[in-house]
Amino acid sequence: MTPRRFAPLVSLVGAGPGDPDLLTRKAARRLSEADLVLYDALVTPETLSLAGGATRISVGKRAGRPGTSQPAIHKIMIRAARRGRRVVRLKCGDPFVLGRGGEEAQALAAAGIPFEVVPGVSAALAAPALAGIPVTHRGLASAFVVVSGHSERAYGPVLDGLAPGSLTVVVLMGLASRAELAGRLLRRGWLPATPAAVLLATSTATETTWIGTLSELGASALVEAGRPGTIVIGDVVALAGAGVAEGARAEAARAR
Ligand SMILES: C[S@@+](CC[C@H](N)C(=O)[O-])C[C@H]1O[C@@H](n2cnc3c(N)ncnc32)[C@H](O)[C@@H]1O
Repeated sequence: MTPRRFAPLVSLVGAGPGDPDLLTRKAARRLSEADLVLYDALVTPETLSLAGGATRISVGKRAGRPGTSQPAIHKIMIRAARRGRRVVRLKCGDPFVLGRGGEEAQALAAAGIPFEVVPGVSAALAAPALAGIPVTHRGLASAFVVVSGHSERAYGPVLDGLAPGSLTVVVLMGLASRAELAGRLLRRGWLPATPAAVLLATSTATETTWIGTLSELGASALVEAGRPGTIVIGDVVALAGAGVAEGARAEAARAR
């Protein structure tokens, strides 16, 4: 069959935290219309199944193995778009939050390929929300910061600049460095009793929540089993048991 040809367009699409019900309508539409989907490791099979008959290529890092290099991803997107394929670059959460989506947009712009960004629900917001933790709450926190826990160079200067206890800290990619992160905040004067949460595989069937304090976070026993996790630190974590999560779970159980 002769492939369909369209004016080149690459859609940089946010897949949200995992549950396809948390996709935007536009993301779901772009997936259903796609010819080629390049997806990251954290994109769930349920989300990917919305891609219908598209060719699907995994370009993410898996279990310590390197994924497709960034320049190679750019090349595949550009070549496919020039051939008139509808390309979806599907990234977990929001494509422009700690996911190198900006670099992909720059590469497409440099190659003269029209592209669009379809925002997604970032895990930085979805994970606390689904656990019943409002990242801001009158009287507890009127701001939040999202940092990458991937390297000390990334989070160090940000955390050092925060007045202890003044806001909610959300850490992505921080499971392996949780002891260093917690130690750093404690040394900066954060109270050991500050509530902390680790939210694993939010919105998926293997979702798990750990709740404790900042002083317990470093030694928290987590069975990560390859699951992604979001860390939340701040007084708002104490609201996690306030009924929101229970309500959401009951709602989910009713819907099943
Ligand atoms: C490379 S970053 C990309 C973030 C993504 N662009 C976003 O906006 O959510 C991947 C990190 O997001 C977090 N994450 C993604 N999906 C998650 C989920 N379902 N539950 C908890 N954390 C998740 C984890 O911290 C993971 O290491």
